[in-house]
This record gives sequence, structure tokens and C-alpha cells, in this order.
Amino acid sequence: MTRPMWPTIRRIALVLTLGAVAALATGCPFAFPDFSSGPIFNNPDDADNEQAGYIGAAACAACHPDTYATASQHAHAQALMPIQGVAPEYPAIGTRAGVPDPPAGKTWNDVSYVISGYTLGAFFVDAQGYIMTDGVEGVNTQWNLAQPVIRRAAGFVEYKPAQAAPLEYAYDCFRCHTTGPVEKTAAQPQSQDGRPGIGGTWAEAGIKCEACHGPGSNHAPDPEARSLFVDPTNDTCARCHLEGTDPDVIVASAGYVNPNTQIAELRASGGHSDFTCTLCHDPHVSTVYADGLRNTCAVCHTDQNMALHAGFRFVLGDYEEELSCESCHMTYTGLSMGAAAADAVGAFGGRAGDVRSHIFRIDPERTDFTAMFSADLSRVLTDAEGRAAVSLDFVCGRCHTGLGNAFLITPAGAGPIATDMHTKAAAP
Ligand code: HEC
Ligand code: HEC
Ligand code: HEC
Ligand code: HEC
Ligand code: HEC
Ligand code: HEC
Ligand code: HEC
Ligand code: HEC
Repeated sequence: MTRPMWPTIRRIALVLTLGAVAALATGCPFAFPDFSSGPIFNNPDDADNEQAGYIGAAACAACHPDTYATASQHAHAQALMPIQGVAPEYPAIGTRAGVPDPPAGKTWNDVSYVISGYTLGAFFVDAQGYIMTDGVEGVNTQWNLAQPVIRRAAGFVEYKPAQAAPLEYAYDCFRCHTTGPVEKTAAQPQSQDGRPGIGGTWAEAGIKCEACHGPGSNHAPDPEARSLFVDPTNDTCARCHLEGTDPDVIVASAGYVNPNTQIAELRASGGHSDFTCTLCHDPHVSTVYADGLRNTCAVCHTDQNMALHAGFRFVLGDYEEELSCESCHMTYTGLSMGAAAADAVGAFGGRAGDVRSHIFRIDPERTDFTAMFSADLSRVLTDAEGRAAVSLDFVCGRCHTGLGNAFLITPAGAGPIATDMHTKAAAP
């Protein structure tokens, strides 16, 4: 998805102007949407789109075939997989994807939905609509996909062993994994497919076209007459990629960043804080498995060097990584399914979760994560200008463990090397 320089530059100007205007008008560029009741129509100029209904992505494919084709390979489309007696099938480009078996002792007939299973891992919803847990089932119920970067093998691991009662598949769980989610209330007492464990209903499993554009029943028959909403801001992404409701708090847990709070991270990134997600990401093309990046670092940072790492390749067992800007600036501070064990990051303080950071800034003075988070490790610290920074144990400590081809440097020892790193000359 290579785009010429000219539209790129125009986009930046547009984004910065919009951001500045919104910030002046409201003090905060985020109008956090109220999705507590009923369908999300999304469109501020057309609040209920004349009571449009959801018609499903297949109906959009007829007229938007290219968008449909790439969007179907995005993790959004696999965020919830309906199961009909056999293992879920994922797009072939998902090289890590796949959930070959249900938890031990179960058959696919005991499973109504698999939650994800495309990029990091999966959970299982049983026939009654409850999320399977170790506590209730007596066997391991979390499926991890292989994650070579932290040497994690595919397999079942423990999930909620202390859970005694059946665990509801709650609205606050499926609202970010479905299209047209509606919470179960006294006024709307239905559960999806009549399964009592599900805390409401949805129009379509997974995040399909209408999850972002609103329901399309009025647009599809007469597209010229009824537009769908195309969001120029980050509000749509914020419905799901922000943990909590405050975009100025980067929620964390036990010293890892929440895996779905990129909105708050980006806001704290200093130089990128006014960017929209779609400046870098094509919303219809997967970043994890396809070429979904519109602008790479080098498009804007035209003369930044590789900080002593030009042309290097990191090798650890079967895992190989060509050093890139992302290797250091988007290291793995987020934790979704599990963190790196000592055989991946060594015994000298290296640290890695399984989701990339969007903070971008690195602070050479913070050698270990306790200086990056609040004392209770529940949020990332920010300075007077609202900026966060990643500590060196997450950056240098991920590779320089002595376990692979990068020699051991303790995070504390890395401090002086990391300071002004881009101004240093490579060894002859
Ligand atoms: C606020 C929105 C939101 C809520 C609520 C939410 N998720 Fe997610 N979930 C996400 C996002 C965004 C990701 C992708 C994170 C990433 O890869 O960076 C994700 C990823 C996942 C994954 C990993 C999938 C994969 O392979 O990448 C699983 C499994 C998952 N969520 C299950 C759940 C369960 C179970 C609940 C309820 C307890 C839940 N989610 C609630 C937004 C949400
Ligand atoms: C995750 C949210 C999301 C999903 C899912 C999504 N879109 Fe979009 N779409 C956007 C955003 C944001 C834009 C704004 C323009 C941009 O940045 O590309 C957009 C733009 C568009 C446009 C305007 C033309 C263009 O490409 O710029 C069309 C048409 C469109 N989407 C159709 C679809 C269809 C059809 C699907 C399902 C196959 C879909 N979208 C799924 C977020 C989404
Ligand atoms: C019968 C063909 C047809 C179908 C079906 C259709 N679209 Fe469109 N869509 C169009 C055309 C034509 C345009 C351009 C309209 C214009 O320029 O005013 C468009 C424009 C759009 C846009 C850009 C904003 C706008 O409205 O101009 C979005 C977003 C979009 N469609 C999404 C969808 C989604 C989501 C679905 C499925 C729910 C869908 N479309 C179904 C033909 C269709
Ligand atoms: C309705 C909730 C929802 C909305 C809205 C949403 N996302 Fe997501 N997003 C998710 C979930 C859930 C996942 C993880 C799905 C999985 O791995 O199974 C995800 C994963 C992703 C991924 C990584 C997966 C991949 O294939 O590349 C990117 C990138 C992403 N989202 C970007 C965006 C952007 C940009 C927007 C706004 C235009 C957006 N998302 C809007 C819920 C959402
Ligand atoms: C400055 C560019 C840039 C911006 C802005 C940006 N991203 Fe990203 N994002 C990236 C890059 C680069 C990757 C990693 C690609 C790779 O793994 O090679 C990525 C990866 C992701 C992933 C997958 C993370 C993982 O490890 O599973 C998600 C989810 C995501 N972005 C969501 C978002 C959301 C939501 C926003 C807006 C708040 C956003 N991004 C803004 C550049 C950006
Ligand atoms: C769309 C243009 C654009 C893209 C793409 C982009 N940047 Fe930036 N970046 C900027 C601008 C503008 C600034 C602020 C001015 C400056 O510091 O040069 C900035 C600042 C930064 C900073 C300093 C942040 C601070 O405030 O301390 C880092 C680090 C950075 N970028 C890394 C990256 C990396 C890594 C990538 C690729 C994943 C990337 N950028 C992609 C435009 C971009
Ligand atoms: C080996 C790790 C590493 C790699 C690779 C790397 N950086 Fe950096 N970068 C750093 C560190 C460490 C700092 C912080 C230096 C300081 O604050 O003293 C930094 C600082 C920056 C800054 C802030 C301004 C400055 O020069 O200090 C920008 C912008 C930046 N990097 C962009 C990039 C881009 C773009 C790439 C890819 C071409 C890249 N970096 C590759 C480690 C790296
Ligand atoms: C993705 C893995 C990775 C990350 C992250 C990383 N490095 Fe490296 N680094 C390497 C590899 C691989 C080499 C080459 C080792 C060799 O060939 O002996 C290297 C080489 C070096 C060298 C020697 C450079 C030369 O010219 O020979 C220094 C110094 C260094 N790294 C410091 C750091 C510091 C400080 C950080 C954190 C800011 C860092 N590295 C982050 C993998 C990494």
C-alpha cells in the first residue's frame, strides 16, 4: 500500500488542523461516545440514519468488493467466530492463526463461539453462552497461539482457576468484538441465539463494516441518497482501543500496558499525540498479517539513522527479526495473553509482553519498568506535558540477554549507551 508523498503530507496538515480546532473548542479532542444503549449509528449529522438496520458485510461486498476482500483478512473480522460443530476457519494469511481443538474433554458441539484465535489467542463460549473457565471445566481453557517473538509455543494454559460459577459472556466483553452490540436490560431482555449466558445480542459476530460505519439498510438500496458515516477522527477507534473512559490515563496491570489502550498511548507519545490512527493504519487492511501501514516511519523521519543497529538481524532460536525503528520504539510493553518467560528475556531484567507499544518515546534514564509505571503499577506515568516513555528493560532488555546473538547488556548498563543514541557513531 505505497502512497505518494503528496497525499501523505496533506493528510498530516489536515490532521493537525482538525486536532487543534477540536482541542480549542472542547479542551479535549475526544467526544467519548455513549454506547450504553441500543445500536450505534455513529453519525453525528444523521443521528439515527432514519432507523436503519444492520444488513451484514456480505451485502456490502456486492458494491465494495475490494474493501470487503481485505477487511475480511483483518483481525477485526475474526474477533468472534461462530462455531458449527467444527474448528473455526481463518483466512490463510493468518500464519499464526488457528484453534485446532476445543479444551480437553469437550467437542466442537460444546462450543458456540470462539473469541478471536487469529493473532494472539482464544477463549471458548459454551453452548449455554458462558465463557469456559478452568474453575468450572476442570481443564485448561485459554488457547495461546504461537508467539515466536517471546518464544511462546501454541497450547492451552490456565484461565481463571478460582472461578466457581459459570462466567457470563457479558456485554462489556462482547461489545468490542461484535457488530451492533446491545446490552441485556429489563427493556431488552434477549440473549444472543437464546443462550442464557450471553449478556445481550449483536447483529453480526466480529467487527464488520457496520461496526464502524453504522447500519446500512438505507444506504445499500440507494447509496447516492443515504451516505454512511466516515469518521475523520479517532472516536470510532476509541470505542474499542481505549481502556476506561479517560484518554489521558494509560491503564496498566502488574507493570504491563493494557493491550487495547492504543488511544491513550498515542496521546502520550509527544510528537505523535495529535495523529489519527488512520494516518498510519488503513482501517480495512490488517497490520499484523498484511500491508496495512499507510506511512512507515521513514516516510516522515527521512534522515533518522538506525541508532547503531543498521543492517543487524536479531536471532534467538528459530526467531529472526531484522532490526527496524519498531524494534526499539514499538517494543512489546502490552500484555494480552501472557508475558515472556526467562528463556526468552533472560535472568538479568529483560522484559516483554505480547502487544506492541504506541508510546514511541524511550527514556534512557529509566532503566527498569518500576520507573515507567505508578507505584501500584496500574498506570503509565506521564510528565507535566502528558508524555509517557518506555523503560530500557522493555527496549534493549528484550534482545541483549546473551541468549541469542545480541550480547548481554543489563538494563542499567544500557543507560549510557541509549542516551543520545542517534548521535553516536557505529563501531568501526
Ligand atoms: C474496550 C474494548 C474491549 C473489550 C471490552 C474487550 N476487548 Fe478483547 N480486545 C480488544 C482489542 C482492541 C484487542 C486487540 C488488542 C491487540 O491486539 O493489540 C482485543 C483482543 C482480545 C483477545 C486476543 C485476540 C487476539 O488473538 O488478538 C482476546 C482473546 C480477547 N480480546 C477477549 C476478550 C474477552 C474475553 C473480553 C471480556 C472479558 C474482552 N476481550 C473485552 C478490545 C476489547
Ligand atoms: C474498524 C473500522 C472500520 C471497519 C470495520 C470498516 N471501515 Fe470503512 N472506513 C473506516 C474509516 C475510519 C474510514 C475513513 C477513511 C480512511 O481513513 O480510509 C473508512 C472509509 C470507508 C469508505 C470510504 C472510501 C475510502 O475507502 O476511503 C468506504 C466505501 C468504506 N469505508 C467501506 C467499508 C466496507 C464495505 C467495510 C466492510 C467490508 C468497511 N468499510 C469496514 C473504518 C472502518
Ligand atoms: C448497491 C451498491 C452499494 C451497496 C450494497 C453498498 N454501498 Fe456503500 N457506496 C456505494 C456507492 C455508489 C457509494 C458512493 C456514494 C457517493 O459517492 O455518494 C458508496 C459509499 C460508501 C461509503 C462512503 C460514504 C458515503 O456514504 O458516501 C461508505 C462508508 C460505504 N459506502 C459503506 C457501505 C457499507 C458498510 C455497506 C454495507 C452495509 C455498503 N456501503 C453497501 C454503493 C453501495
Ligand atoms: C468494535 C470494536 C473495534 C473498533 C471500533 C476498532 N477496533 Fe481495532 N481491534 C478490535 C479488536 C477486538 C481487535 C483484536 C481482534 C483479534 O485479534 O481477534 C482489534 C485489532 C486491531 C488491529 C490489529 C489486528 C490487525 O489485523 O492488524 C489494528 C491495527 C486495529 N485494530 C486498528 C483499529 C483502528 C485504526 C480502528 C479505527 C479506525 C479500530 N481498530 C477500530 C476492536 C475494534
Ligand atoms: C505513527 C504510526 C502509527 C500510529 C499513529 C498508530 N499506529 Fe498502530 N501500529 C503502527 C505500527 C508500525 C505497528 C506495528 C506493525 C508491525 O508489527 O510491524 C502498529 C500496530 C498496531 C496494532 C497491533 C499491535 C500488536 O502488537 O498486536 C494495533 C492494535 C494498533 N496498531 C492500533 C492502533 C490504534 C488503535 C491507533 C490509534 C490510537 C494506532 N494504532 C496508531 C503504527 C501506528
Ligand atoms: C506521518 C508522519 C510520521 C510517521 C509515519 C511517524 N512519525 Fe514519528 N514523528 C513525527 C512528527 C511530526 C514528530 C514530532 C517532531 C519530531 O520530533 O521530529 C515525531 C516524533 C517522533 C518521536 C519523538 C517523540 C517525542 O516527542 O519525544 C519518535 C521517537 C518517533 N517520532 C518515532 C517514530 C517511529 C518509530 C515511527 C514509525 C513506527 C514514526 N515515528 C512514524 C511524524 C511521524
Ligand atoms: C536500537 C534502538 C533504536 C532504534 C533501532 C531506533 N531508535 Fe530512535 N531512539 C532510541 C533511543 C534509545 C532514543 C532516546 C535517546 C535519548 O533520549 O537520549 C531514541 C530517540 C529517537 C527520537 C527522538 C529524537 C532523537 O533523535 O533523540 C526519534 C525521532 C527517533 N528515535 C526515531 C527513530 C526512527 C525513525 C528510527 C528508525 C529509522 C529509530 N528511531 C530507530 C533507540 C532506537
Ligand atoms: C531487536 C533486538 C535488539 C534491540 C531491541 C536492541 N538491540 Fe542492540 N543489538 C542487537 C543485535 C542483533 C546486535 C548485533 C550483535 C552482534 O552482531 O554481535 C546489536 C548490537 C548492539 C551494539 C553494538 C553496535 C556495534 O556497532 O557493533 C550496541 C552498543 C547495542 N546493540 C546496544 C543496544 C542498546 C543500548 C539498546 C536499547 C536502546 C539495543 N541495543 C536494542 C539487537 C538489539
